Amino acid sequence: MAVREVVTWGDPRLKKDSEDVGAWTPELDQLVADMFETALAEEGVGLAAPQIGINLNLAVIDCSCGEDPSQKIVLINPEIVREEGVQVGPEGCLSIPGIREVLERPMKVWVKNRKPDGSWEEITGEELLARAFCHEIDHLRGRLFVEYFGPVKRQVIQRKYQKHYQPA
Ligand code: NI
Repeated sequence: MAVREVVTWGDPRLKKDSEDVGAWTPELDQLVADMFETALAEEGVGLAAPQIGINLNLAVIDCSCGEDPSQKIVLINPEIVREEGVQVGPEGCLSIPGIREVLERPMKVWVKNRKPDGSWEEITGEELLARAFCHEIDHLRGRLFVEYFGPVKRQVIQRKYQKHYQPA
């Protein structure tokens, strides 16, 4: 397993639509293992493939941050099919280190997700997990959480990021 380099805000690979995962391969098992390890090393709850420069509809989530293997989730070609309620809370992104902003998200979401064996499942998440589903699936559509804010607030965040946090 290996920790991969995380690409950051401004990199064009974060803006692209990703392609669906096709037939499952041992290389994808390796990629998923690396993604979990990278998320853990960076202390993130989730990581989407575009964040390591791979434009595939693939993301990993672990709300236990490595504490509980049963909480590891692999999203493959996922799609939100239903959402319910509202939560308001802080959100951050490994591709925008140092920045955390309050953002409204649904309280509960239902996700249609493919499994490695090719079958489909429907999974649900509430609270932090719902937020993670929304955040990671946005990455697969080329969307960063800061893009939900208006141009003025986004510019303030961008200046703060560039001044204090943007990796050299
Ligand atoms: Ni993110």
